[in-house]
Amino acid sequence: MTAIMVLHGPNLNLLGKREPEIYGNLTLVEINERLVKLGRELQIEVRCIQSNHEGELIDALQEARTWAQGVILNAGGYTHTSVAIRDAISAIIIPVVEVHLSNVDAREEFRHTSVISAVCRGKVTGFGWRSYMLALQGLAELLEENGE
Ligand code: DQA
Repeated sequence: MTAIMVLHGPNLNLLGKREPEIYGNLTLVEINERLVKLGRELQIEVRCIQSNHEGELIDALQEARTWAQGVILNAGGYTHTSVAIRDAISAIIIPVVEVHLSNVDAREEFRHTSVISAVCRGKVTGFGWRSYMLALQGLAELLEENGE
């Protein structure tokens, strides 16, 4: 069975409470439940992981190589700063889709730069919790097309 890792970075554990006007009212648990449900419909195993720590995110990306065919990544604030996460994405070969709840390009200048976009397969930004769903749908179709 195809497996996909959904990896959430720093502060996303606070979803629902954190700036709901920007990030929405759903909690991370609720978003993860929706992802697992959509995964079931697509016959894909979805495993969701969250960490506030850069090294743990890198460990999760490296480990994904051994069990997942693709990754959906919301790197949170590390999107704009972490060369180490970018290097991990480059290293693992399997496709990684960059996701953001908010439309990062419509926000502060510092959010307009992503150091990971160039090594990701694609990007979904600005659709709230639906950004994750769209990424899962797209990644599932991509993997199916490639026979994975
Ligand atoms: C975010 C956007 C980032 O700029 C921010 O640091 C986050 C969340 C989003 O999902 O919109 O933590 O990745």
